[in-house]
Amino acid sequence: MLMTTARAQPAADHHIIFDTDFALPPQDDGLALAFALNSPELDIVGITTVAGNYNVARANADVLRMLEIAKREDVKVYGGAKRPLAHEKDAFAASHYGKWWSDDPAPAPPGGFAKKTLEPTAAADFMVRTVMARPGQIEILAIGPLTNVATAIRRQPAFAQSVKRIIIMGGALASLPDGGGNITPNAEFNFWVDPEAARLVLRSGIPIVLSPLNVSMRTSFDENSFQALAASGTPIVKLIAAQMRPRYAGNPDFHPHMYDEVAAASLVDPTLVKTKRMIVDVDVTHGIDYGVSVGGAEAWPGAEGARTVDVQYDIDNARFMRLFVDRVKR
Ligand code: RIB
Ligand code: CA
Repeated sequence: MLMTTARAQPAADHHIIFDTDFALPPQDDGLALAFALNSPELDIVGITTVAGNYNVARANADVLRMLEIAKREDVKVYGGAKRPLAHEKDAFAASHYGKWWSDDPAPAPPGGFAKKTLEPTAAADFMVRTVMARPGQIEILAIGPLTNVATAIRRQPAFAQSVKRIIIMGGALASLPDGGGNITPNAEFNFWVDPEAARLVLRSGIPIVLSPLNVSMRTSFDENSFQALAASGTPIVKLIAAQMRPRYAGNPDFHPHMYDEVAAASLVDPTLVKTKRMIVDVDVTHGIDYGVSVGGAEAWPGAEGARTVDVQYDIDNARFMRLFVDRVKR
């Protein structure tokens, strides 16, 4: 009798909820998902969407389509918060980057809307259910505004102490090099969209790794790396190349920074980045520093409830890009 043996899959090191203000590549959330889907160290237990780069309708449509293109319809998607906890649209928001405040229907993604649909459970409920069923085992990779995570913390008092760890792309710390903001002079986009949620999560007691703009500013997706990636003909790489090739062709100096991709890659290989322990908090007063993150080695007046987190501040960009390209092109 012919015996067949199933090839053993290596056990994943991280069981993650992928929480994202998703848009298809070249958006960084899309590139981070392409990386995560091809990384056997990461077991994506679910994807949760949130308004940020675009509204949540677009996040849902794009992520469902991406999973179809990648032939990963097995990964479940849970629709999340349509609006931040408190931040209202104003004239500044309406005229600057980010469509988090919009109620527009999602445009059709390349190839049309996916047949795959959302799960019936809302993102925050899925987070609570999943974390409480496996206390101490689930990590959250949070690469958009933190509205879903904050809602889960509020909904279930034992949630924060049951999350293993959260890796957050967010913030910009002026006390470290490259500490300027990207939406206001000192505020980073994800924290600025939902400052109240960011503050609540940072103060929640969940073990936190913060990947702020400071480390993103030290990355560069140069043309050599792009060409190495584009040589692969997988459906996802074809999509990425179709979107990004004109940008490189039109500008020899084009070398975008990487944001959410750093948070994802540092989960797979933490030696890519340097981190330091810092107290980090977010300003939620509605003045000129709304949404600004502040980090210090010691507590300062007004930040008494703030916690110490691991802050990424430097990266080996060459090694990071090699890992990124190697994974995404598979
Ligand atoms: O500031 C960069 C962050 O804002 C990234 O997560 C990007 O996708 C946007 O959400
Ligand atoms: Ca993002």
